[in-house]
Amino acid sequence: MVQATMEGSQEAVARCVATVIRSRRSVRAFKPEPLRRELVEEILGDAATAPSGANIQPWRVYVVSGAVKDELANALVAACRAGTASPPAHFPEPLPDVFRARLSDFGARYYGSLGIDRDDTAARMHQTEQNFSFFGAPVGLIISIDRRLKPHSWVDIGLFAQNLMIAAKARGIETCPQVSFAPFHDLIAAHLQMPSEEVTAFGISMGYGDPQARVNQTRMPRERVQDFARLFGFPA
Ligand SMILES: Cc1cc2nc3c(=O)[nH]c(=O)nc-3n(C[C@H](O)[C@H](O)[C@H](O)COP(=O)(O)O)c2cc1C
Repeated sequence: MVQATMEGSQEAVARCVATVIRSRRSVRAFKPEPLRRELVEEILGDAATAPSGANIQPWRVYVVSGAVKDELANALVAACRAGTASPPAHFPEPLPDVFRARLSDFGARYYGSLGIDRDDTAARMHQTEQNFSFFGAPVGLIISIDRRLKPHSWVDIGLFAQNLMIAAKARGIETCPQVSFAPFHDLIAAHLQMPSEEVTAFGISMGYGDPQARVNQTRMPRERVQDFARLFGFPA
C-alpha cells in the first residue's frame, strides 16, 4: 500500500517535471514587471546544483536589472548598429546539410511568426537588435567562463543554464538563452568589470512572458527519439 502510494507520487513528480521541461520555450517578448532579487537568487541557487566535471563549477553569472541593464542594453544596441563587434560566427562554414536544414526551418518559423520576409534585411536586423535589449525582459544574465578551460567545461555551463531556465519556468518565469552576446564580450566585460581571464559565453533574458506577442507563439519542432537515439541491449 505504502509502495503503491510512493509509486503514485513518483509518477506525479515525473509528470510535473516533464510538464515544466516540455513547456519551456525561448521567449522573446516580456512584460515589464520586475523580478524580486530574492526570487532571482533562489533560481540561481537551484541552477548551481548542476553537475560539473570534478565539481569545478565553472559558471560565473552577472545579473543586471534596472538602470544597469538599460545602460548595458543601450551600449550593446549602439555597438550592434555600428557593427563594431566581429560578425557572429556561431556555426562553422560550411554548415553540414542536416544542420543547415534545421537552421533554415528555424529562420522560417521565427521570422515568419513576425511577418518578416526572408529578404527583408532591415526588419531582420531590427529583430536581431532586440537580443541586446534583452527582448524587453526586466532581468538579463551574462554567463561567463574562465577562458583557460577546455570545451568540456562549457558543457557544465550549458547544464547550469538549463537548470536555471527550468527553475525559472517552474516559477512561471520565462527565459531566452542568447549566444548573440558573445561577440560583444569586450563591451560587456568593460561594463561589468569582468576579470580578464573570463570570457562571455552567452546571455539569458528572464522575466514574465507576454503571451499575446506573436513571436511567443512560435513552437520549434524536435527530432523524434528514434531519429536521434540508438538503443542497444534492450529486450525486443
Ligand atoms: C546556446 C544557445 C544560444 C542561443 N542563442 C540565441 C540568440 O542569440 N537569440 C535568440 O533569439 N535565440 C537564441 N537561442 C534560442 C534558440 O533559437 C532556441 O532554443 C531554439 O530555436 C529552440 O526553441 P525553444 O528554445 O523555444 O524550444 C539560443 C539557444 C541556445 C541553447
